[in-house]
Amino acid sequence: MNSHRPRVVLTRRWPAAVESVLAEDFDVSINEHDIPFSEHGLRDALRSADVLCPTVTDSLDASLFDDPAVRVKLIANFGVGFNHIDVVAATGRDILVTNTPGVLTECTADLTMTLLLMTARRAGEGERELRAGEWSGWRPTHLLGTRVTGKTIGIIGAGRIGLATARRAHHGFGMKVMLYNRSKVAADVMAELGAECCDLESLLSRADFVSLHCPSTPETRHLINAERLSAMQPHAILINTARGDVVDESALVEALKNRAIGGAGLDVFEREPQVFRGLMALPKVVLLPHMGSGTEETRVAMGLCAVDNIRAFFASRPPPDRVDAIQP
Ligand code: DGY
Repeated sequence: MNSHRPRVVLTRRWPAAVESVLAEDFDVSINEHDIPFSEHGLRDALRSADVLCPTVTDSLDASLFDDPAVRVKLIANFGVGFNHIDVVAATGRDILVTNTPGVLTECTADLTMTLLLMTARRAGEGERELRAGEWSGWRPTHLLGTRVTGKTIGIIGAGRIGLATARRAHHGFGMKVMLYNRSKVAADVMAELGAECCDLESLLSRADFVSLHCPSTPETRHLINAERLSAMQPHAILINTARGDVVDESALVEALKNRAIGGAGLDVFEREPQVFRGLMALPKVVLLPHMGSGTEETRVAMGLCAVDNIRAFFASRPPPDRVDAIQP
């Protein structure tokens, strides 16, 4: 091992091809068993590595950076969302933080549409019924879902993934698009999507499908709460491929039980990998294990994106995907 090579710690296994690319230039420590690091493990890694490559399963809070023995200079996150990293605390220790934006946009939008279609068309229920040997054959009233084509989708958060979802919905399914976003959406994008920008209340009360694409911040925590769920139409379906804590899961279960909304498709959860028990029992809910970016191509691209950031850092170039704390 070349002791002059910067030490890079991966907290989880990456696609093998990317681990090999990284090992060409760096002294890479691989988490062979792919078991999430404990807090102690993260603390050790911050002390022993030059670069830490965490994922959404690693909580890097301020207390970890409040340690004089921290050696890490770069945190190259494997993922676009970085709500699990206290960027302010890291920056305060002169640690740069990068993420992997862009490369996962299309696959995450694909999965959003997968969830939307599965929920609307009751695909999860159908698959469970068939596998259980309970399908008795075609009949006119069997597992009737709700039509997707031509309906209205409300997108909360018009960033890359929100807009990629809007494009699929509009161009692929002839859906009317409503957007709720903190900042103004470019006029050409609005025109392309035939979209309408609106306030949250109006979106919730008019959309047939509400799809969440905002980051997790203190301001968006439980953005979808009991009151906002009750503002949705009784047939409306909520889709979440953003972050679990944007939705108050307990309020969601109540809304589904009381038929305040029609269904939900969830890829993310408040306390992953735990799933709120009440959700499991509800047939009109489709539950997926946080797999929005989960394709071979995208996970390799995410790894290569992190490698680019690490290489830039050690070449004294600004890493292309540096992140700053999201402003409230
Ligand atoms: C992302 O990239 O943010 C995914 O949700 C995994 O962290």
